Amino acid sequence: DGETHPVPAGAARTADSPFVRACRRRPVPHTPVWFMRQAGRSLPEYREIRANVAMLESCRRPELVAEITLQPVRRHKVDAAILFSDIVVPVAAAGVDLDIVPGTGPVVGEPVRTRADVERIRPITVDDVRYVDEAVRLLVAELGETPLIGFAGAPFTLASYLVEGGPSRTHAKTKALMYGDPELWHALCARLAEVTLAFLRVQVAAGVSAVQLFDSWAGTLSEADYRRYVQPHSAKVLAGLADAGVPRIHFGVGTAELLPAMGEAGADVVGVDWRTPLDVATKRIGPDRAVQGNLDPCVLFAPWPVVEAEVRRILDEGQVAPGHVFNLGHGVLPETDPDVLTRVVALVHEVSARPAH
Ligand code: CP3
Repeated sequence: DGETHPVPAGAARTADSPFVRACRRRPVPHTPVWFMRQAGRSLPEYREIRANVAMLESCRRPELVAEITLQPVRRHKVDAAILFSDIVVPVAAAGVDLDIVPGTGPVVGEPVRTRADVERIRPITVDDVRYVDEAVRLLVAELGETPLIGFAGAPFTLASYLVEGGPSRTHAKTKALMYGDPELWHALCARLAEVTLAFLRVQVAAGVSAVQLFDSWAGTLSEADYRRYVQPHSAKVLAGLADAGVPRIHFGVGTAELLPAMGEAGADVVGVDWRTPLDVATKRIGPDRAVQGNLDPCVLFAPWPVVEAEVRRILDEGQVAPGHVFNLGHGVLPETDPDVLTRVVALVHEVSARPAH
């Protein structure tokens, strides 16, 4: 609990915000809402500012990062900002040759196959990611009482990109390494956990109010394999932040069977996709953690009455959770009409408004 640890100076100002309060399972004036991938191609102002800058390059320019991060906050009045970056940014800083290809995602020059490949992933310090430290400081100064969420990729999801060499539907090469050479697998994940933890600690020291650990593709595993091959590494990252004084959100897609295990990895908030209703998710996760989610991003393409009914259902089901942060079940799709997102924020605030606590 946040009260048993010193809150970092940067995060102190936001400790009473609806977002941080919900993460801490405290009463809130209204259910807080933000959207994964709220910064990005759904916004014309983003497409304009990114027109001549490559994705990875844009993540390394603090002023640009700050501007892109603020765009959805200004437009939608969401309850939290999320740092504009990507899960592969710290891996690139650790020396891995990779790029983010438009329309595809991260592509790795030489996929990881051997112990020597793992050894080449260097541990990172703040000096390797100065631009992130700077961007967070700029943002914290701009955002005032609006919390900034820092984030990183979890070892499994990062390993998947590194082993496959790019996005994958089956994660076949990743699983082949995991089952075929568990020792190498654990060495790879241990190194990635180190990089991820260092990257998150840089963000915490610079003033983020919460962190989200994205294990987007963990849902491809059975619970038993998740517990055996993945959870110990994610747990190491989350435990390494236990004294940081900021809530830890842990998220994946298709994780209905993994929700308890992902909570037990050391999360304060468990992200839930649209496949599991929040009341069911809460029963699985237990009373000691808040939940985040879980509108299907595709519902945003439906007529407004359908969107409204879904938002109301989710708020209703979220009431049994000890804390609820409204979000999508995965990221905003690029084709989304941003005006619908703005309307969803207003609706969440209106429907969930509670008398002074
Ligand atoms: O607003 C936010 O949520 C913050 C920004 C953010 C990005 N990537 C920016 C981005 C965050 C939180 C991420 C995390 C990320 N990156 C994840 C985990 C979240 C998830 O979606 O499950 C993953 C798996 C990645 C890897 C990645 N990077 C993918 C799959 C893609 C999409 C490829 C494409 O072009 O469709 C990227 C590129 C990327 N990261 C973009 C953005 C805005 C699109 C690139 C662009 O705008 O040119």
